[in-house]
Amino acid sequence: MSHPTPDTVAKMRRAHKVLAEFRYEPAELERGYANRSLRIDISANRIEVRPVTQQMKDLWIGGKGFDLWLMFQEIDKDTKWDSPNNPICMSSGPLGGTMSFPGSGKTLVTSISPTTRNIMDCNVGGYFGPYMKFAGFDALAITGKASQDVLIFIDAKENRITIEEAPLESADSHLAAEEFTEMYALDELDKRNVAVVCAGRAAEHTRLGVLNFSFYDWRRKVARLKQAGRGGIGTVFRNKRLKALVIRGKPLAPTWRVAESKVAMRPAGGACACSQDMKASVRKIAEKWGQDPDYVIEMLQDLQDQDRHISQAAIDALSLETGVSRGQLYHIATFYKAFSLTPRGEKVIQVCVGTACHVKGAAQIVSAFERALGIKQGGTTKDGKFTLEAVACLGCCSLAPVAKVGEEIYGNLQTKDAPRIIRAEGARRG
Ligand code: FES
Repeated sequence: MSHPTPDTVAKMRRAHKVLAEFRYEPAELERGYANRSLRIDISANRIEVRPVTQQMKDLWIGGKGFDLWLMFQEIDKDTKWDSPNNPICMSSGPLGGTMSFPGSGKTLVTSISPTTRNIMDCNVGGYFGPYMKFAGFDALAITGKASQDVLIFIDAKENRITIEEAPLESADSHLAAEEFTEMYALDELDKRNVAVVCAGRAAEHTRLGVLNFSFYDWRRKVARLKQAGRGGIGTVFRNKRLKALVIRGKPLAPTWRVAESKVAMRPAGGACACSQDMKASVRKIAEKWGQDPDYVIEMLQDLQDQDRHISQAAIDALSLETGVSRGQLYHIATFYKAFSLTPRGEKVIQVCVGTACHVKGAAQIVSAFERALGIKQGGTTKDGKFTLEAVACLGCCSLAPVAKVGEEIYGNLQTKDAPRIIRAEGARRG
């Protein structure tokens, strides 16, 4: 993917006319709540902070609950999906952004759907929800409809929110996310603090438009996207003439963590039976990341790449290096599919068994690979060359049934393709 040039970004920035500006006081999080929400009306260019009451927390707990509560403040019996008063609500629950509970980084997004004409929510990855929480807002509701393409920018470093004209940026999400990340990050490191929400051109022409949430992938140096895919909320977003919602979070270290959680943070340390070689190898990786506990996932990724699995000895050594408990490290290593506690093969054959592939015969494709490799799914061949995995949607359902080996996608598979793919991948280096 090509990055926008500095000249292009400067030109886009110059075209931004600020339509509304709002400054706010920072808020400390208290037991997972900032205790306030944002309401942004893009018809009137009005930005307001509203309290999150104890009643909201008692009766409408969590991202889903907050979204619904905010919806009910805005809509009436006549509100349709394309009515200006149909809000797009986004919330992060009380565990949002905690580092101790994988999966708590989701943002809940809710609106009246163009496809079902009823209230529809979806949850989505990316960094927006946690950054909104760390900026001091549990939730936000965007209402109204702009007369031109606009952007909302929440700057958590400067405690400032603006509504700006955004006439020049791309209407394609993968390009817009790159452009806005370049535009609002102070430097390469700061790109990790920028999260972009946008919808592409298809959302302008269908009722199924998805809403894309970005996170900056520092390994690939690109802004990657996660989708709030249900119900066409991207269509509502573009119908409001929203080009993007951008947040620049505070520096990467989280504002809070559940350090006192007795489940997640059992004391680190204790005996480590690992070899000197293992200790040295883990220390090298830990030092690369400054032995900072916030980067244990990155350290585990390096260990997985290096050893093709996360061994018990590696977990012991990493616990000593970083002070993160063994329980927490196991928690991470067993939660994410990217990690394996047993050695994986040199190549991992992932056969998709998601819905589209299932309908097109994924089970037979898995069986064909099992026969050709002489192993069951989840297993590794004796020579250590191949591991076979059945995985959820690989994101290219139009090619179903699909398998992936490394970066290579094999689509429209038939059972007879399995031996051919194994031969080709066996001959291919890397
Ligand atoms: S269901 Fe297989 S790629 Fe989506």
